[in-house]
Amino acid sequence: MRRVAVIPGDGIGPEVIAVAVRVLQTVGEIAGRRLEFVEFDWSADRYLRDGTTLPADAPAQLVQEFDAILFGALGDPRVPDNRHAAEILLGLRFGLDLYVNLRPCQLLDARLTPLRGRSEQDLNFVILRENTEGPYVGLGGVFRRAMPEELGLEVDINTARGAERILRYGFDYARRNGLKRLCMTDKSNAMPHGHGLWQRVFQRLRTEYADIEARHLYVDTLAAELVRDPGQFQVIVAPNLLGDILSDLGAQLVGGLGLAPSANLHPGRIGLYEPVHGSAPSLAGRNLANPMGAVLSSALLVEDFGWRREARAIRAVVQAAIRTGQTTPDLGGSQGTQQVGDWLCNELIRRGLPED
Ligand SMILES: NC(=O)c1ccc[n+]([C@@H]2O[C@H](COP(=O)([O-])OP(=O)(O)OC[C@H]3O[C@@H](n4cnc5c(N)ncnc54)[C@H](O)[C@@H]3O)[C@@H](O)[C@H]2O)c1
Repeated sequence: MRRVAVIPGDGIGPEVIAVAVRVLQTVGEIAGRRLEFVEFDWSADRYLRDGTTLPADAPAQLVQEFDAILFGALGDPRVPDNRHAAEILLGLRFGLDLYVNLRPCQLLDARLTPLRGRSEQDLNFVILRENTEGPYVGLGGVFRRAMPEELGLEVDINTARGAERILRYGFDYARRNGLKRLCMTDKSNAMPHGHGLWQRVFQRLRTEYADIEARHLYVDTLAAELVRDPGQFQVIVAPNLLGDILSDLGAQLVGGLGLAPSANLHPGRIGLYEPVHGSAPSLAGRNLANPMGAVLSSALLVEDFGWRREARAIRAVVQAAIRTGQTTPDLGGSQGTQQVGDWLCNELIRRGLPED
């Protein structure tokens, strides 16, 4: 039996996570696997009601009692400074030391890419974003707030340990998945201190992984190359902020934010699985949100349980839904969030599990 902690969050989070949970329940039933879900209401509603963001004992409780975390999205116009979102999501990423943010960018149907003349084979890479350092750690301050000479300082943290462990994960990921090419990106020409450190770690590690073709591109060049010729990339490793931006570019190349999954990982520990998109407040409560990013995140979740056939089954029905137009409006369809969920579950039952 596996226990999954579910944090639906704000906006469209609860709608897309409801579909992902149904898909997981369905695939579990087909496979004869027991899955138990426990929901946590950490969200803007809860914060506005009683001030709770992430309870202090939450990371320890999640580690002790659960095998995975399924997460929706956080962000609500009623909390303009997004305090609850930062404390809950960054609290979990940092508190559980989930240093890998894995964001696959795979084209499931050639019609979905805005790039001319590209097929499914041309777009299949993964972005591995460092997830615990960079300028996202909240170090800094504001001086002379709201005065004409106001100063804002955001400290960009880069450590040799942080760079090494995500780069090592990238090389090992390439080996594990039979991939040959890894690209490390930074902006060391303009940020020689922090990103110069990344360069030195990268140059040291690449000699250890001589079987992987390792190259470096400055992030601006990489952004251009991803649009010009995305087929050259298999594994991309990036510092936190750069990986955040690149993965939205990657998501758009394969069909948009509604379709993009992610996993926050620390090998050997509990992982947190979430769609890349945010809470999209303008879509919330309207049965319009695309649940596929959340559903594909649940495929990453079961894959990490070692349930490979179940993960393949989920991906196959998502691809089939796209091919047959069973999609929400962002992908050109006319189905609602729940109807897409119904279709995916029915199709899973109809097909059963794929052969091993
Ligand atoms: N991991 C997270 O929880 C996370 C990530 C990004 C943004 N946010 C938060 O979400 C809120 C909204 O941010 P934003 O508008 O910049 O980003 P967003 O991802 O919520 O939305 C960006 C655009 O993509 C569309 N979109 C996103 N998800 C979709 C889906 N599933 N189906 C169809 N269309 C979809 C939206 O309509 C919007 O046009 C903010 O409060 C932000 O801080 C949270």
